Amino acid sequence: MAADTAHPSGPSAPGRTSKLAIVGAGAVGSTLAFAALTRGSARSIALHDVNRAKVEAEVLDLRHGLMFTSPAHVTGSDDVAVCADADVVVVTAGAKQKPGQTRLDLAEGTIGLMRQILPGLVDVAPDAVYLMVTNPVDVVTYAALQISGLPRERLFGSGTVLDSSRLRAVLAERCGVAVGNVHAYIAGEHGDSEIALWSSASIGGVPLLDWVPLDGRAPLDAAVREEVHREVVDSAYRIIAGKGATNYAVGLAATRIIEAVLKDEGRIMPVSSLLDGYHGIGDVCLSVPSLVDRRGVTGTLPVPMSDDELAGLRASAASVRGVLQRFGF
Ligand code: 2OP
Repeated sequence: MAADTAHPSGPSAPGRTSKLAIVGAGAVGSTLAFAALTRGSARSIALHDVNRAKVEAEVLDLRHGLMFTSPAHVTGSDDVAVCADADVVVVTAGAKQKPGQTRLDLAEGTIGLMRQILPGLVDVAPDAVYLMVTNPVDVVTYAALQISGLPRERLFGSGTVLDSSRLRAVLAERCGVAVGNVHAYIAGEHGDSEIALWSSASIGGVPLLDWVPLDGRAPLDAAVREEVHREVVDSAYRIIAGKGATNYAVGLAATRIIEAVLKDEGRIMPVSSLLDGYHGIGDVCLSVPSLVDRRGVTGTLPVPMSDDELAGLRASAASVRGVLQRFGF
């Protein structure tokens, strides 16, 4: 497929509409494109993958559903030019996590891949906000910042938005309330060292640590909280063991982050950004509740943390920093 860079209203056109470029047409990239299409997140969606047959097939399949979505322009190519002038570039390309592998096991291959693809992307989409989804996302985000030279607010990772959604889903089910009534964050690495911020969590305005169970359900005592945390940390392993990859929830989580950018929402989300003195943590990309708007990540929230949570966040930072050091960062 020839590089189709047509954009219904290019960057300088009056009434310009939003363009989302997705790099990688694998399980995550194509699910993300589908989620963005059905949610009407962007007027123009461009898919880029080195596998030409795959990207062509995904674009055709998505285009054939356009009758049932809000108006959109879907393009795709093995030529990076298809991403030209995107407002948001999402990077999903990378090695697949196999059963038994941790996300951190993927670091070496993925860092090499970022060196190959980022310069070309920044050439064609120099003003975009970049969202990294590829794992290990915190390591990849830090490496991508160094490789691309982009300002820290304009390049960040999907981080623990997905894990926080998993946490909320599990808590909602256990407590018998709607997911939207649960406010709780997973922070730190998107991976095995992530922590749950219990002390600032709430359900329907009630601090989670004071939660009184409804209808004879189990309380959220320390043992149950530990069980819930374990369930969240192990989620991806269970899904990968069962179907080879995770795609739906991560596709939706990334789509929601993209919307926060394109719609200039000022939404608080636990994305992974370069920290600089957050509770004393710096020189590492990690997730903490952060402000996301049209410019990217424009701030982090000084969420109060218990001593245990703070120690957990510091340990998570040390774990990610250790991996970065191994690769010369
Ligand atoms: C996930 O958590 C594997 O990072 C991916 O679903």
